[in-house]
Amino acid sequence: MKILFVTSEVHPLVKTGGLADVSAALPAALQVLGEDVRLLIPGYSRVLEKLENKRIVASFSVFPGQPEVKLLSAKMPDTDVPVYVLDAPLYFCRVAGPYQYELGGDWPDNAMRFGMLSKVAAMLGSAASPVAWRADIVHCNDWQSGLAPAYLHLNEDVHAKSVMTIHNIAFQGNFDRDWLEPLNLPQSCFDMHGVEFHGYLSFLKAGLHYADRIVSVSPTYAREIQTTEMGYGMQGLLTARNGDVSGILNGIDENEWDPATDKHLSARYDSRDLTPKADGKMALQQRLGLEVKARAPLLGVVSRLTYQKGLDMLLECLPKLLDGGAQLVVLGSGEADLERRYQQLAQRYPGRVSVTVRFDEALSHQIMAGADIFLMPSRFEPCGLNQMYGMHYGTPPVVRRTGGLADSVSDASLEDGTGFMFDEATPAALYRTVVAAIDCYRDLPRFHSLQLNGMRRDVGWRASAQKYIELYRKIE
Ligand code: ADP
Ligand code: GLC
Repeated sequence: MKILFVTSEVHPLVKTGGLADVSAALPAALQVLGEDVRLLIPGYSRVLEKLENKRIVASFSVFPGQPEVKLLSAKMPDTDVPVYVLDAPLYFCRVAGPYQYELGGDWPDNAMRFGMLSKVAAMLGSAASPVAWRADIVHCNDWQSGLAPAYLHLNEDVHAKSVMTIHNIAFQGNFDRDWLEPLNLPQSCFDMHGVEFHGYLSFLKAGLHYADRIVSVSPTYAREIQTTEMGYGMQGLLTARNGDVSGILNGIDENEWDPATDKHLSARYDSRDLTPKADGKMALQQRLGLEVKARAPLLGVVSRLTYQKGLDMLLECLPKLLDGGAQLVVLGSGEADLERRYQQLAQRYPGRVSVTVRFDEALSHQIMAGADIFLMPSRFEPCGLNQMYGMHYGTPPVVRRTGGLADSVSDASLEDGTGFMFDEATPAALYRTVVAAIDCYRDLPRFHSLQLNGMRRDVGWRASAQKYIELYRKIE
């Protein structure tokens, strides 16, 4: 099958979160299983800088009145998965983030930027393909490619089938209806049974309405988004299309995330011998200015600092945990208020709390390996990759029983336990669970078996990539 995987971020070219990791690993896993899979990504400045041996394969116009764009072809670093780059410098060659400018606001022309990405994806899946290759399946990811199924549907020629994967339903890409015309969408599709969502043009709604199949990144989240509490307004549509909705749990890329081979670690280890993990912990404590104490429970957080991740709840119970002898290392950025409160905590607890507010790939690996316990108290979590990295690195996670956290972690009370789970989204429930995790950490044999359970669990992509292939075959 010819599969076009459309994404707005992909590791190691551009990354703001888990979507980038999935966009690198899933296509690579599909390729290993014999599929002809190619990526389509926007030509952000850093993509053009990092990607070598690019060739121009087409120049064409996407929307009337817009300058011509180019399609470049290259191979992904490390995996050799073919990638098409939408080179439209006016829209993508900008300093700062893929979605936002430096001070944190959304780029005002995001509708045009990602509308264009979606349209090119649809072209690559139809007779109008600007290259000799034409996709059988266009696999869209999140709102940024949500219009592609709409463009495919509106095209009367033979065209590809589409799959829409929801990585996070809270991000919907809702824009003023005035964008319909520049995006070349007929007014007739501005309807409840179309792209309209509460008076706005919604990219995600379009994807959910027009795609042939809808996937979410864990079975539990696929159910949760069909409820009023967690559907962010899309629950009605999802419930109506229930038969087309499924959940496929993400995997992790073991070429990038394996404590035995991780290029970011100075002390590597595997499940046969965890001693070097202790060296990594001490190196981390030293580097971040924490007191170097081998047996102080070191709690780790690597996260976007947002409401979703529940880290405001953690702030409330930290003083008690720290007074009890724990240490904390945080790497993350996001909401200004949370960044500030975590930085204040670090000032209040020198030697016991380290807070780094930036994006740092190497440090994220070092925390995964050096921490004793990983914290992920998310209010909602479509899948979550960090808890899987934690388990794989012998750093049992504390997670709330929601979404992909519920599907990937087993509670320590079970024979095959890999982490610690709680239900209520309250600081008290989180506190109790972290205390239980610290108690377990002090019980060496018990903690060790939990670490080994996590490290030996199969969290690779193979099984999930197979499930995607089965799904593509059903609709092809
Ligand atoms: P989400 O996509 O919701 O942010 P995931 O757990 O799926 O959550 O994936 C987060 C990814 O982003 C992981 O690879 C994690 O290591 C990475 N990450 C998050 N914040 C940072 C940061 N400040 N520095 C480096 N990596 C980060
Ligand atoms: C989103 C979700 C996260 C998921 C990731 C990759 O960013 O918030 O839970 O792991 O996408 O699918």
